[in-house]
Amino acid sequence: MEGQSLIVYYSWTGNTAAVARELHAQTGFALERIEEMKPRPFGSLPMAAMGAWFHLKSAIKPLPVLINNYDNLFLGIQVWAGNSTPAINAFLKRGNFKNKKVWIFMTMADNVPSQKVMDSVRRRVEEKGGVVVDTIGFTSKMLATVGDEQRASQVLSPEMFREALTAWLRNNRILE
Ligand SMILES: Cc1cc2nc3c(=O)[nH]c(=O)nc-3n(C[C@H](O)[C@H](O)[C@H](O)COP(=O)(O)O)c2cc1C
Repeated sequence: MEGQSLIVYYSWTGNTAAVARELHAQTGFALERIEEMKPRPFGSLPMAAMGAWFHLKSAIKPLPVLINNYDNLFLGIQVWAGNSTPAINAFLKRGNFKNKKVWIFMTMADNVPSQKVMDSVRRRVEEKGGVVVDTIGFTSKMLATVGDEQRASQVLSPEMFREALTAWLRNNRILE
């Protein structure tokens, strides 16, 4: 693919991280995780859900790379309480996507990706000059050990989504 590509994602409970790592393994594209300044306490689901519900933006750490240096972004998001997450809201608010091609990958507990969240993230990327080329969603679980990725036993395993991801990358002519 032409230009420089970056996979950038947020993940509290590890599902989106698992997809992002597999995407990195298949493409070799640079990989960066969006981190919140204040770690979310173990099990603080209601707070997380409320933050998303009220469209809050959390304080996020600056990425160690400049988004401006990339032409293609693969943005990893998830659904909380029917909305995008506070870290993603902050990233979209801060980001400048001018002339960038953007692919969005989502993980969610529902069987189908949230069209509402996909549309709202797409709109915010496009308001900042980006073009969303394609999107994909992967069904994960609502983790019982939410907030503790290390101990989570139900994080999506690559076997569950590898083929679908490869097919999507081929469709998009990112992989041969
Ligand atoms: C606070 C909270 C609220 C959630 N609300 C939804 C929801 O409304 N719809 C849905 O499909 N999944 C929902 N989920 C499930 C997550 O979208 C799913 O587990 C996702 O893979 C989490 O991504 P992560 O592991 O990368 O943080 C919710 C999870 C959390 C923690």
